[in-house]
Amino acid sequence: MIRKTAVIAFLAPIIMFGSVLSGVATADEAMIEKGKEVAFDRKKGNCLACHMIDDGSLPGNQGPPLISMKARFPDKAKLRAQIYNPLERNPNSFMPPFGLHNILSDGDIDAIVEYIYTL
Ligand code: HEC
Repeated sequence: MIRKTAVIAFLAPIIMFGSVLSGVATADEAMIEKGKEVAFDRKKGNCLACHMIDDGSLPGNQGPPLISMKARFPDKAKLRAQIYNPLERNPNSFMPPFGLHNILSDGDIDAIVEYIYTL
């Protein structure tokens, strides 16, 4: 006969682990969603002014289209650095240094990185 406590002891970690996993998934989704919002917002990132991104409307073309980001930036920190301060990689860049000049908060930049890393 299977004892109730044995069943609980067996199932509890699985259920707990499952909820931890789904908790992480929703947190990531929310962050990606927020990143897209900030990137597209004309009064915040306004990345569409210069970049073609995803399904964004009326994109500019002064910057390269933001596609295949994982392949082009295997190191996520370099992608973040490009957004934080593009002048580090290219001193003549006219892309705004979003982090350095406090145009966007660190949290907003993290969210944008998560979002464009999905493209
Ligand atoms: C005023 C125009 C402008 C705006 C606004 C702008 N960028 Fe850029 N971006 C550029 C240009 C030009 C480059 C080309 C490299 C350079 O000059 O730094 C670039 C390069 C990049 C790159 C590197 C792409 C590659 O393939 O090397 C990334 C990533 C990027 N921008 C992300 C963003 C994000 C995210 C935003 C919004 C938060 C943004 N950019 C806003 C002009 C802009």
